[in-house]
Amino acid sequence: MRVQVHLGERSYPIEIGHGLIGNAALLGPYIAGQQVAVVTNSTVAPLYLERLQQSFPDRCVVDVFVLDDGEQYKTLESYTAILDFLMQHRHNRSTTLVALGGGVVGDITGFVAATFQRGVNYIQIPTTLLAQVDSSVGGKTAVNHPRGKNMIGAFYQPVCVIADMDTLATLAEREFVAGLAEIYKYGVIWDAKFFDWLEDHVVDLRAKDAKVLQRAVQTSCEIKARVVAEDEREQGLRAILNYGHTFGHALETVTEYKQLLHGEAVAIGMVLAADCSERHGLIASGDAARIERALSAAGLPTRLPRGVGASAMFDAMGMDKKVVDGKLRLVLAERIGSVKIVDAVNTSAVLQTLGNER
Ligand SMILES: NC(=O)c1ccc[n+]([C@@H]2O[C@H](COP(=O)([O-])OP(=O)(O)OC[C@H]3O[C@@H](n4cnc5c(N)ncnc54)[C@H](O)[C@@H]3O)[C@@H](O)[C@H]2O)c1
Ligand SMILES: [Zn+2]
Repeated sequence: MRVQVHLGERSYPIEIGHGLIGNAALLGPYIAGQQVAVVTNSTVAPLYLERLQQSFPDRCVVDVFVLDDGEQYKTLESYTAILDFLMQHRHNRSTTLVALGGGVVGDITGFVAATFQRGVNYIQIPTTLLAQVDSSVGGKTAVNHPRGKNMIGAFYQPVCVIADMDTLATLAEREFVAGLAEIYKYGVIWDAKFFDWLEDHVVDLRAKDAKVLQRAVQTSCEIKARVVAEDEREQGLRAILNYGHTFGHALETVTEYKQLLHGEAVAIGMVLAADCSERHGLIASGDAARIERALSAAGLPTRLPRGVGASAMFDAMGMDKKVVDGKLRLVLAERIGSVKIVDAVNTSAVLQTLGNER
């Protein structure tokens, strides 16, 4: 199954299916020269590296850089270490970088690819559900700065994305469920029929039924690809992908990134955003409740954890990069399947949402 991302000369395919990592015929055409550098991490390498190494063309010399596992390694230090490695192994302009792993590996490898020799070929092989439906698609690359997530980065598109659904079999259940949050997000922001379908197939989805999962990943990629094709650099429309994320990021900040996975925070954020949308006279209360029920059925949290106060959340939201010219800007839902960017939100409505004991 293939989804195309249409970006003129930077267009590329997302290949979605089973057994793709070991498929030499699939990978071969995207490798230009004779050098390949695989970047992966210490968890993913033992699981999938060997299979991947067998699918490179015979002419290639393949070097492998293994990162330690964790968001705390998505740093300039790791970035520099990978650059040093490429220099040491004499990689040139025609090398191909391959990111094998979740969003952390993908984001950092993408940023190396964007900047090494002013930009080299790179392939994303996402191995988490979140990476398959979100971070590997759309060309955002970054590392973190001690004072802020994703503060250093570039827009840089891969030459292809290979989403091998087989990799999800080894993914921790909690990581898998967290990835579902972004899938539901696509339904809320873009496609009411997809949202209905997700509601109807939640049991199969959670059981990782091959057909259902593949369709969910494919539809998610199609929606993200369409949004990115219209607004690659987030001048406007692309911001809708941040639905639930201003609340979600604030929650991650307030809980110091220790308590919740990103997708879990986003699930709670989507429910808060729906409540806030209702307070702005947008989404009907029945639809807001439906979003909460659907996320809950998917196994996601939907309420602020105990001890997280409204004012701490509100302050953290003020620090978010979605604040434009001192006004809080939010993506709010008009109904399931349609959102809009509201430039000057009613801050008392936001506070009510945060303080609301539902
Ligand atoms: N570029 C973008 O547009 C974008 C979008 C969303 C998120 N992100 C970034 O993505 C990152 C989060 O990505 P993530 O959720 O994939 O986290 P992650 O990369 O940390 O992966 C989660 C965990 O799963 C492990 N893992 C990966 N694949 C596995 C597999 N197949 N089997 C077993 N374990 C596996 C990893 O080693 C890690 O421990 C964040 O840094 C976030 O900023 C980027
Ligand atoms: Zn997200």
